[in-house]
Amino acid sequence: MTASLRGLRIVVSAGPTYEDIDPVRFLGNRSSGKMGFAIAASAARREADVVLVAGPVALATPDRVRRVDVRSAAQMRVAVLAALPADIYIAAAAVADFAPRHPSALKLKKSDTGDTLLLELVRTPDILAEVAAHLPRPRLVVGFAAETHELGRYAQGKLRDKKVDLIIANQVGMPGSGFESDDNMLTAFDHHGSHALGSGPKTELADALLDLVHERLGDGDATSATDPLAHRQR
Ligand code: CTP
Repeated sequence: MTASLRGLRIVVSAGPTYEDIDPVRFLGNRSSGKMGFAIAASAARREADVVLVAGPVALATPDRVRRVDVRSAAQMRVAVLAALPADIYIAAAAVADFAPRHPSALKLKKSDTGDTLLLELVRTPDILAEVAAHLPRPRLVVGFAAETHELGRYAQGKLRDKKVDLIIANQVGMPGSGFESDDNMLTAFDHHGSHALGSGPKTELADALLDLVHERLGDGDATSATDPLAHRQR
């Protein structure tokens, strides 16, 4: 039987972010948003109160999910923080790590730049680390890691550096997994070790991930972070 998440508030981020260079160009990435949308849909089927903060994607909103559309990492940060407090935060978005320092209000013209164009990029805010440090903190903070190599080492590093409870790692750069694919292969890392979630359609992996989330929350305590009484007791 599917584990219920009734009464729990879950915030999920999904998709890429676009960082504008000028009014017609941006820096983006190949995230389709499918994994995050599948997680949001599965959480809603389990009767959670779901807020889905979505970067630019071409996907339909799952039933009974409140969707907030954003474009840039800065906008995603504002929307995610506005959705707190929550019981669970799942960061499935592929947030751009860098954005142009001075996006141009006017379209850049080749005639003005010559043969080379130097773009100065600055780090975007780390939304996942900020949510993990936020008070009241969600009971479970889950990040993703897309890696082409040394999956375990990088996943453990992100667990530590961002102070999150779980990192869900997937190998990218192989056919049948990762960005743009309907399928994926996921491994969950916590501070004690790793746990294979298997491979297959992202919809099935989303269910496996939420079963793990349910298990990690511990049984019997479905008190919501959005319940004012629960806050006082926290
Ligand atoms: N993340 C975030 N805010 C950012 C960047 C990433 O919230 N500015 C989140 C993503 O949603 C994901 C996790 O952090 O859950 C990914 O971690 P990160 O270290 O940023 O991975 P990469 O972008 O792959 O970075 P690196 O190149 O260092 O591996």
